[in-house]
Amino acid sequence: MRKTTIVEMLKNAGENFVSGESIAGKLEISRTAVWKHIQSLRESGYRILSRERCGYKLEDAPDLLLPGEIQIGLDTEIIGKEMHYSPSVESTNRDAKALAYHGAPDGTIVVAEEQTGGKGRLDRTFYSPRGKGIWFSIILRPKFLPHDAPKCTLMTAVAIAEAMNRFNLRAEIKWPNDIMHDGRKLVGILTEITGEMGKITYVVIGIGINVNISRDEFPEELRDVATSLSELNGAPLSRVDFLRAVLEEFDKLYREVNDSGFGEILNRWRKYNVTLGKKVRVISAGDGGETFNGKAVDLDADGALVVETADGRRTVYAGDVSIR
Ligand code: BTN
Repeated sequence: MRKTTIVEMLKNAGENFVSGESIAGKLEISRTAVWKHIQSLRESGYRILSRERCGYKLEDAPDLLLPGEIQIGLDTEIIGKEMHYSPSVESTNRDAKALAYHGAPDGTIVVAEEQTGGKGRLDRTFYSPRGKGIWFSIILRPKFLPHDAPKCTLMTAVAIAEAMNRFNLRAEIKWPNDIMHDGRKLVGILTEITGEMGKITYVVIGIGINVNISRDEFPEELRDVATSLSELNGAPLSRVDFLRAVLEEFDKLYREVNDSGFGEILNRWRKYNVTLGKKVRVISAGDGGETFNGKAVDLDADGALVVETADGRRTVYAGDVSIR
């Protein structure tokens, strides 16, 4: 028995009461068990009115990323069938790796309201305040080879861009995977891979989406480099609705990649990218962090950035790129 079902029943009833008897009947549990579930929903923040001889009525649902909310109407085949939720964690990537190590299935989601030690790329920290964004990780057990795994970040960026489309928000992807608006970052993606020679054991994709953070809520040092969906939208967004959209878009792309490879993903990435054709400064992750300037001219079949420099073309597999 899932709490979701009770929430769903109450939501479907709208302004009407649902009798304890009908909930008990549908879920094949006792009325005392129904009452206990209602109590636990209340503890999670749901406001539920109970009236003798009428039953229960939902007055307000909390703005929390509870699995029971996200899974209502979630149209996916693989992603989000199993979800782990915590009000606060150090890092969802850290928890996801532990769960994956212990066998969590393909598509498992780990989501939190806040992270106390959110991890960014290149050992940076990632600002993840409570209730203001969507901080989550996806565990994948893909069919493709380790060589293809870096393209997971491109796939994730495209999934988020397509979710933003649903909300009439335009995404700008900066290579490889930062989603930007007006040069400021909206979303960060951190992919971590575990495997052996020639085989991926699991991939953990960590995604941090700044949703409802106003400019002055960002710490001073982030104000000029970070932004949020609500700033772009001009109004707050439902985190539950946005997360559901991301999971659905991700699910479609992941199934497509498993069936026919990354070709189409790379094309769609090109459509949203704001890096190609621009003058860039590259801090390469290899070569001891070498810095060079050039013009970004292409994305190759591996998802690497091809940069035209004064000394010829260079291919960048990992690093930091700023647009000049
Ligand atoms: C970056 O842009 O540097 C990547 C940021 C990735 C942040 C997300 S938030 C959820 C997941 N858990 C983490 O600790 N990091 C990722």
